[in-house]
Amino acid sequence: MKFYEIEGGYILRGEIDVSGSKNATLPIIAATLLNEGVSVIKNVPDIRDVKMMCSILRKIGCKITREKDVLIIDATTITSSQIPEDLMREMRSSVIIVGALLGREKECSFTYPGGCEIGSRPINLHLEAFKLMGVDVLEKNGNIECKAENLIGTEIVLDFPSVGATENIMLASVLSDGVTYIKNVAREPEIVCLQDFLNAMGADIKGAGTNTIKIKGVKKLHNTEFSIISDRIEAGTYMCMVAATKGELILNNVCVEHIAAVIHKLRQMNCRVHTYKNKVKLNANRALKATNIKTMPYPGFPTDMQSQFVTMLALAEGTSIIVENIFENRFKYVPELIKMGANITIEGTTAIVQGVDTYSSANVQAKDLRGGAALIEAALAANGLSRIEGIDFVERGYENLVKKLTILGAKIRKQ
Ligand code: EPZ
Repeated sequence: MKFYEIEGGYILRGEIDVSGSKNATLPIIAATLLNEGVSVIKNVPDIRDVKMMCSILRKIGCKITREKDVLIIDATTITSSQIPEDLMREMRSSVIIVGALLGREKECSFTYPGGCEIGSRPINLHLEAFKLMGVDVLEKNGNIECKAENLIGTEIVLDFPSVGATENIMLASVLSDGVTYIKNVAREPEIVCLQDFLNAMGADIKGAGTNTIKIKGVKKLHNTEFSIISDRIEAGTYMCMVAATKGELILNNVCVEHIAAVIHKLRQMNCRVHTYKNKVKLNANRALKATNIKTMPYPGFPTDMQSQFVTMLALAEGTSIIVENIFENRFKYVPELIKMGANITIEGTTAIVQGVDTYSSANVQAKDLRGGAALIEAALAANGLSRIEGIDFVERGYENLVKKLTILGAKIRKQ
């Protein structure tokens, strides 16, 4: 298995560009199925999850080409409404294709996506919403068959502002009869980006970014060209990696508004952060200070930044309390950090972090995407040579990670 070898202890300094957002790209690739034509999507990151989503669309009849950061997706012909089981298991977020296939074909069959390293990740909110829209949902031995005469606009109130459920309902409603109201929706920037893409194809959606979204069904969508927003979690990740080494960073192509909660916490930790139109400058040459964090739905502190902050807080002066409110099992990377010298106690979904002076290099294993990024962050701060196994997880969501870190002065090699 491939691994990263990192010689840590160097202060990272430099300027890099943020790539397009993984979590905006994936639902938009699924959304192209709603247009029996060609969609051109720009600023698409070249990462494993995007490759996997494209392979699912190819398996059901789409023609997809890539030219640099541009995806050209021709969904004129769909040959199947079955999502391949292996790809469903490999990437849970492929469940987002269900809403698009229901919207277009009025049917979809798929296997239960199952849990992953950060939690059980059920899809009850997705399925309950589909039923309210007139879909028959048959669950048998882990397989799910969805079928509908027609999808009827209705009012759906989500028990939890689930990102995936919000996106799936939007996709299923775009070509439905009538008007759908979704309440207590997710308000993430990726939801707004999906609304903008669907409306660019001729949909009639309002309210993304607020707690209610209104979708007025339309008959047909048309071809469009669209550019993906920048990746707010990638931006936050590099800020944490540089801050853990007491370095300095200039990040270009940032949407500052999207990382307000992250910047607020970095400042609380004694980092200097200056914001410009679409650029952020970080200076972390002062001693890091402890702070407390509670992960929340957007615009609260993002769960996808939790592991990168715990890794930094483990080097801060004082004791920090981090409560993970979104996923029930998102501290799997902590035992690996403890191997590197961190002083962290986990009690349920709370981490109590006592700052230490530094990390020691070690051989560690990534078990999920953001936990893997956290281990790289710790290795960059540790003196000596560390090995990070399980880098397939990391390459699901970070484009050109070795190249970008090398520009910042990191000694990192993929072996
Ligand atoms: C999206 O996952 C993101 N993935 C995740 O990013 C992100 O952590 C998460 O939203 C929360 O912001 C993509 O966009 C591809 P949810 P999703 O539905 O949609 C529970 C990363 O690292 N829930 O908002 O799966 C669920 O178990 C990834 O880039 C139900 O109970 O997240 C979880 O506890 C990781 N029933 C909570 O809601 C449901 O039907 C939030 O899940 C659906 C969700």
